Amino acid sequence: MSKRYDAFVTWASGIKVPINKKILDQMAAWSTSMNVKVNKSTLLSWRVLETNSMFADRISDVPKSFIREILKVAISPNIISFAGGLPNRDLFPVQALKEASNRVFDADAGDALQYSTTEGYLALRKYISERYKTIKGLNIEPKNILITTGSQQGLDLLGKTFLNENDRVIIEKPGYLGAIQLFSIYKARFSPVTLNSDGLDLAELTKASSLRNTKLMYTVPNFQNPTGITYSDKNREAIAEILRGKPLMLIEDDPYGDLRYTGSHQSSFMHYLPEQTILLGSFSKTVVPSFRMGWIVAPDEIMEKLIIAKQASDLHTNYFTQKLLVEYLLNNDLNEHINKIKEVYGRQCMAMIESLKRHFPENVEYTLPEGGMFLWVTLPQGISAMELFQEAIKQDVAFVPGDPFYTSSKEIVSTLRLNFSCVDEQTIEKGIARLGATIREFMEKQKQ
Ligand SMILES: Cc1ncc(COP(=O)(O)O)c(C=O)c1O
Repeated sequence: MSKRYDAFVTWASGIKVPINKKILDQMAAWSTSMNVKVNKSTLLSWRVLETNSMFADRISDVPKSFIREILKVAISPNIISFAGGLPNRDLFPVQALKEASNRVFDADAGDALQYSTTEGYLALRKYISERYKTIKGLNIEPKNILITTGSQQGLDLLGKTFLNENDRVIIEKPGYLGAIQLFSIYKARFSPVTLNSDGLDLAELTKASSLRNTKLMYTVPNFQNPTGITYSDKNREAIAEILRGKPLMLIEDDPYGDLRYTGSHQSSFMHYLPEQTILLGSFSKTVVPSFRMGWIVAPDEIMEKLIIAKQASDLHTNYFTQKLLVEYLLNNDLNEHINKIKEVYGRQCMAMIESLKRHFPENVEYTLPEGGMFLWVTLPQGISAMELFQEAIKQDVAFVPGDPFYTSSKEIVSTLRLNFSCVDEQTIEKGIARLGATIREFMEKQKQ
């Protein structure tokens, strides 16, 4: 197949310009950073696309996972990394899962190893339905639950089911990177809405939700990734008021909701806006991520379409693992296990906040998460988190610069994400002291 171009550059205005290799090399020489500043008013979003036109636009247009690239740098054993986003492996219920696995093999291995239904194992859907009732006071029937291969697949099926090219998706600013990547594959247009300390900016949401072809709104209202922010009940109620009756669905993605360390429980959007809410859930943060066990809760007519989409994708989620998980859940107390996780993460979260108070300059702000795995730092305006990252790596400490969590390029991104689930308290103190010193030095240099 003939090659039409070597790469595309996407301008801030959204216009894509094909360029050849010579220009590409020249641009690479200008800057190795994500954003190439050409002049004050022109910003190039550094999205170099595939060099071979055989690939579909939908995949060529989506940048590589930036975090994965960063984690490659942060993998050295000397580095204290707050860049990860993984649950703590020391807390995986290994022995209980091993025993559950043996029981599945012993009971009826032939059944467990056979093909199964697209909707998912009924016993698992019943367990999830029961848990919604007891924990959240929500009445959700098993027929409205579809088991998915992680909640990430749930998101993919929603993209597949709802989005035509150029349809609009409202997304938090900053937002979950996996959702940005996913909706980009469906060639959606983003309507980012600023996330304030108590939830979404309501004026921005009013505007965004009125734009034509807005079909979905994606939210992580509890302990959001990347900021750790939780929407207040008042904010949720106001959001529901704005969206009520509009032809769009709200996706409530809640992988961290069970991990609350302080404060009080907030109600799901399912309470405020039941007809327009779709829930995504996951066992990745409460049991183990490798099982890839997630689910979607949706009304009947949407469920019908989602099942078709899921059938076309992978027929069904791993049935053996569904059975194993049910065996584990029915013979162990999940709440007890979650309490262990909360105890450890809660201590680590507090340790990080205390260390930040001690070691960060006063003009650096940070969120105070009540749960989850992340905390969000805002440096003084004009300080580039990406440049700080390069300095921090030299000092053997890593974080994720805020850049990939925004859907449009900004000249300088001054925010960054810190993870506290995988680092013990002593190491947190050491790493935050290092990072604090690096920030002070970096800010001093910027003044000169
Ligand atoms: C907000 C959010 N949604 C979804 C996912 C994907 O979770 P799963 O492992 O269930 O696919 C993650 C993973 O980190 C996440 O942070």
